[in-house]
Amino acid sequence: MGSIAVEEIKWSSQLETGISIIDRDHKVLVDLLNQVAAVIGDNEERAILGSVLNSLSEYTHYHFSREEKLQEVAGYPGLEAHRRRHVVLSSQVDDIRSRYRDEPESVQGDEVRAFLRTWLVEHILKEDMNYRAICAAHPQAVVAAEAIRFGDEPVEGNNNSVVRKAATVNWSTLKVLVVEDNRNFQLIISTILRSLGVRSITAADSGAAGLGSLHGGGKFDLVLSDWRMEEMDGLEFVRAARAAGVTTPIIMMTGYSDDVVREQARAAGVNAFLEKPITARGFLETAGDVLTAAVAEAG
Ligand SMILES: [Fe+2]
Ligand SMILES: [Fe+2]
Repeated sequence: MGSIAVEEIKWSSQLETGISIIDRDHKVLVDLLNQVAAVIGDNEERAILGSVLNSLSEYTHYHFSREEKLQEVAGYPGLEAHRRRHVVLSSQVDDIRSRYRDEPESVQGDEVRAFLRTWLVEHILKEDMNYRAICAAHPQAVVAAEAIRFGDEPVEGNNNSVVRKAATVNWSTLKVLVVEDNRNFQLIISTILRSLGVRSITAADSGAAGLGSLHGGGKFDLVLSDWRMEEMDGLEFVRAARAAGVTTPIIMMTGYSDDVVREQARAAGVNAFLEKPITARGFLETAGDVLTAAVAEAG
């Protein structure tokens, strides 16, 4: 995809509906939308933009189901029209996502820019503002919407155990170390983590910096590591960490899918893999598994 210049969207009170769960969702969406523009031309564009678009699509579906529940319970008269707009926006994002996956050259910068504008300016700033007065006055509607968790929304091959496992994780107290040499990839991972409620995220730009963080007295509950990194790669990082007695679960993010290589990595102490381009849902599933297993072992 060609380079495009899209101004970064700064979060402002203008974008706020005043309904905190909705504003939180919108912030995540704005972050992801900003990342779509920022990663174009990155040398790992395919993996990163693929990850951003996957997450944007999943998060869009989730947010829309929450917002529609809110409007339904509050008895908002514009629900049907609003739902139709959501159908159009989610099919646009799904279309961009699948075309980028299958044929990246077919996705044009202009198209993405137009889409981002429609999403933000037209939808969040105008259409979403129309329901805020009615919905903000219905605390039960907010409670019902809040009960919908990311990963809950119906998708193909939905597996509810994903949500159940992930729901047992206390994301807000989790301390996560992200070892990744690509700044844009660090950003997408941070956005996904923050959307789940994680507050403590430490980023390390290299294997050596990751070891430094682990030895620096910081106690982590989860480590995410890239595989392919300059100088010390992910595998060497894991070996060195395990040799130093680090028992924290480690998820390796990789484009490799070779079984032999994966076996080697498991033997080195990797707990699970996340294939690039990643998806937010895939992350939730893998991290939920690894963290519940760690708790079971410790208990
Ligand atoms: Fe919205
Ligand atoms: Fe909406």
